[in-house]
Amino acid sequence: NAAEKGGYEHFMLKEMYEQPKAIMDTFSPRLKNGNIVIEELGMSEEDIRSIRKIMIVACGSAYHTGMTSKYVFEGLARIPVEVDLASEFRYRNPILDEGTLLIVVSQSGETADTLAALREAKDKGVRVLGIVNVVGSSIAREADNVMYTWAGPEIAVATTKAYSAQLISLYLLAMKFAHVRGELSDKGLADMIEELKELPTQVEMLLNNKNKIQKFANRYLAAKSIFFIGRGIDYAISLEGSLKLKEVSYIHSEAYAAGELKHGTISLIEEGTLVCSVLTQEELYKKTISNMVEVKTRGAFVMAVTNVDNTEVEKAADYVIYLPKTNKYFTNSLAIIPLQLFGYYVAVGRGCDVDKPRNLAKSVTVE
Ligand code: G6P
Repeated sequence: NAAEKGGYEHFMLKEMYEQPKAIMDTFSPRLKNGNIVIEELGMSEEDIRSIRKIMIVACGSAYHTGMTSKYVFEGLARIPVEVDLASEFRYRNPILDEGTLLIVVSQSGETADTLAALREAKDKGVRVLGIVNVVGSSIAREADNVMYTWAGPEIAVATTKAYSAQLISLYLLAMKFAHVRGELSDKGLADMIEELKELPTQVEMLLNNKNKIQKFANRYLAAKSIFFIGRGIDYAISLEGSLKLKEVSYIHSEAYAAGELKHGTISLIEEGTLVCSVLTQEELYKKTISNMVEVKTRGAFVMAVTNVDNTEVEKAADYVIYLPKTNKYFTNSLAIIPLQLFGYYVAVGRGCDVDKPRNLAKSVTVE
């Protein structure tokens, strides 16, 4: 009912607006005297130093947070990471040895495939860490250790605030691991903590752009297909942006690693097709801009989500959304906000049942 939605039209919008709080509630209890303390991890510094590989297993949006964190763990902590869909992992007889840390990520803690993956790993004697939102859920109970995301109850089928809180948990872990393993200096850690603390205000700022994004979204209510492109972390962000849009608006959408476009997807670009490109990684700006030019010359309308300093992008974009400055590993937390709003407003404009999209369930407890 209306009261539960706290004055918002939908739970999805309400939950998007709860993201600054979800982010803050997830990092605050783990910051102590300028350090990251994750007691529930149950790992000594020696244990952290002996990790040789991380495997992250999840479904849906949680899988996308795993994709993003691969770049963070590898870039920051120099630990090799494999990310797998739970439904694939459990049937491929994965190689799990001592020195592997398995992380399962789940909002509900009840997703059948993710739970089965956890059990499979535990059978093989591997340590399993759960990143879970629902306290006391099956995954929380069965994992060796649980790091809760403090997003609070999420009602809308399409996840927003739990996704944002999952990202924060994974950043905290990567920063902790990098610091303990000597890959991140005290100063480096202190700087990142400061940048982390800025995120809630920055997310709020981006949410306050909602009217502008709604106006833009209203131009695409009849779109046949919408594409998202990016490289590295920006590819992971694109996957989630595309998923949000298709889940709630029923418009066909695909996310592509920008460099892969010319191996197929570019044939789908027609006059007026919307291509949303994500550019938050400075070293890749030029590469993605060249892909934007490629689609633009074939008639695409190009929207860009990029950092405030990347005005170069205007050469190739028809519409730009700028993000405030943050650490390069935290950009997903900002870039996803306009993309969530975009998906939401396209769905609202099309009269879709935003909180309960057809055929989808909040938690998939069957295989
Ligand atoms: C469903 C939900 C998604 C969610 C996925 C994984 O498909 O609609 O929003 O990302 O399940 O759910 P979990 O609870 O494991 O995060």
